[in-house]
Amino acid sequence: MYKIIVAIDGFSSCGKSTTAKKVAENLGYAYVDTGAMYRAVTLYFIGKHVALTNPREVAQALSDIHISFRRNPQTQVNETYLNGLNVESEIRKMTVSDHVSPVSAIPEVRRAMVAQQKQMGRTKALVMDGRDIGSIVFPEAELKVFMTADPVIRAQRRQAELLAKGEMVELNDILENLKKRDHLDTTRAESPLVQPEDAILLDTSFLTIEEQVELVTGWADARI
Ligand code: C5P
Repeated sequence: MYKIIVAIDGFSSCGKSTTAKKVAENLGYAYVDTGAMYRAVTLYFIGKHVALTNPREVAQALSDIHISFRRNPQTQVNETYLNGLNVESEIRKMTVSDHVSPVSAIPEVRRAMVAQQKQMGRTKALVMDGRDIGSIVFPEAELKVFMTADPVIRAQRRQAELLAKGEMVELNDILENLKKRDHLDTTRAESPLVQPEDAILLDTSFLTIEEQVELVTGWADARI
């Protein structure tokens, strides 16, 4: 059967990862959450106090980082590993969210991550979500979706997600974090978040996850 790459980009907390994961399941494809990769790098940089403005320190740290994904046999969910250690819950915390955008704006960091991501797509049959998947990582992807949603609705979703994991954060703090990340992600010099011309725009403000999944799976099916 013809295999494709599905590139899902967009703003934080629009339901990208949840949608992408379920679409991958429906298609029988692999799924890669590239935000988790940038979060894992950020966690490492925080732990090692890497000076973001020192290219030598950044390059050294990057050469010491190995990121992988392993399926949790109990939940069937892919979890993120940093140098062999499960960091899945650690990378979702607010401390990492607060630092991830400046880290992912560093050109050396992007080059290292994009190279790994391109490798993951060499046999296609892949759903990947992030900020630059349709524009930089796979400009030739057969299906590109760009997701957006009302910022307050996104903050409410993120708050519920964090609460489910036992982290209580004020709605306003989350909203500020989202706005700051949106700004940094869209204005950075290196591969900023942009809607590729050939991407389908999907506003998820008033859609359920099931509706989002159905739409994207349908668009993918039509291209296979
Ligand atoms: O998707 P998530 O919100 O977990 O991503 C965390 C951060 O990682 C984003 O705010 C963005 O700064 C960065 N990122 C990126 N490029 C990607 C994926 C994520 O710069 N492809």
